[in-house]
Amino acid sequence: MIVESNVPLQPYNSFGIVARAQHLARITDEADLVALRADPQWRDAPRFVLGGGSNIVLTGDVKPLVLKIEIKGLRLVEDSPRAWIVEAGAGEIWHDAVEWMVRSGYPGLENLALIPGTVGGAPVQNIGAYGVELQDRFDSLDAFDLETGRSFTLDAAQCAFGYRDSVFKHVRSGPNDFGLSGRAVITRVRFRLPKPWKAVVGYLDLERKMEETANFTPSAQDIFDWICAIRRAKLPDWRVLGNAGSFFKNPTVTPEQCADIIARDPKIVHYPMDDGSIKLAAGWLIDACGWKGKSVGNAGVYERQALVLVNRGGTENPVTGGEVMTLAKAIQTSVYERFGIRLEPEPVVV
Ligand code: EPU
Repeated sequence: MIVESNVPLQPYNSFGIVARAQHLARITDEADLVALRADPQWRDAPRFVLGGGSNIVLTGDVKPLVLKIEIKGLRLVEDSPRAWIVEAGAGEIWHDAVEWMVRSGYPGLENLALIPGTVGGAPVQNIGAYGVELQDRFDSLDAFDLETGRSFTLDAAQCAFGYRDSVFKHVRSGPNDFGLSGRAVITRVRFRLPKPWKAVVGYLDLERKMEETANFTPSAQDIFDWICAIRRAKLPDWRVLGNAGSFFKNPTVTPEQCADIIARDPKIVHYPMDDGSIKLAAGWLIDACGWKGKSVGNAGVYERQALVLVNRGGTENPVTGGEVMTLAKAIQTSVYERFGIRLEPEPVVV
């Protein structure tokens, strides 16, 4: 395993922000992690784990040693009457892995097609779209503990999945706290794809596709194709227009808070949750504050979906992390002033 120096990170983050890694190690298997721990120069160095770079904002050069996860492999590990269990290396491109599963006859992740990033990043933020969250199709994962040098396996409960959240997003703050941020490197993920397969088509966009095509019994491949079309129409392709997907989480409020907002803004988009709280559409809140299509420097609010911030400078004159964060703060302030709601960013700010 070679540690490279002064590595440009622009190709490795979906915003296309210019920054460098002082040092970067490409991790292609567990042995690379073992070797890193055995090397006195790197064993205690601070580290930053980089997957697909699709959920980060780089605000400067990265000083901690960047571990770029490139662990590959896709295979069916179990075919039981109740489920297919498929294992994927953390460095596999998420969308390619989903496509491979659907094509190979292991359906279940088709609603999550075209989400940018890698397999290893998927559990970190419990990716979700169109009625399916990663935790609904999760079996277990393998990770490497950089502190102890041991590999371990976690099931869904141990991952503590929440909305765009997991144990991998939290830093351990005490002896009883199991936060794994900065400590664990996810190496392989196993998906549990239940049999018999059932289509998840409850989302309005998918219902529309069924009407349009008069296909009311879609196959997994049909849903995969529809999801790709829906996302392409609504969300920018980061290879063309840099972005990090939804920039803010959808906030939840109490029914009382929601009633108060409805009294002032009857059109507000809101969804009741199972726990009695109400989820609001952050994109709608931002849109209502007039941000769609606006820019601060080279950071812009996407014209077709206000929840997505984009790089308007391309690769030649790219947005800086500072510009993205200035725009994000301005949006947060105006949403707070109008609705009294604090939006929480989704990407990790580095
Ligand atoms: N809306 C507006 N204006 C906008 C954007 C949205 O009025 O500019 C309204 C829409 O009309 C809709 C509602 O807000 O009524 C929700 O919008 P949408 O259905 O597009 O979904 P979202 O809440 O914006 C979430 C996820 C996406 C995921 C989609 C589909 C979050 C933060 N985002 O977006 O995930 O693809 O649902 O399931 O939960 C991501 O996390 O990066 C991401 C793209």
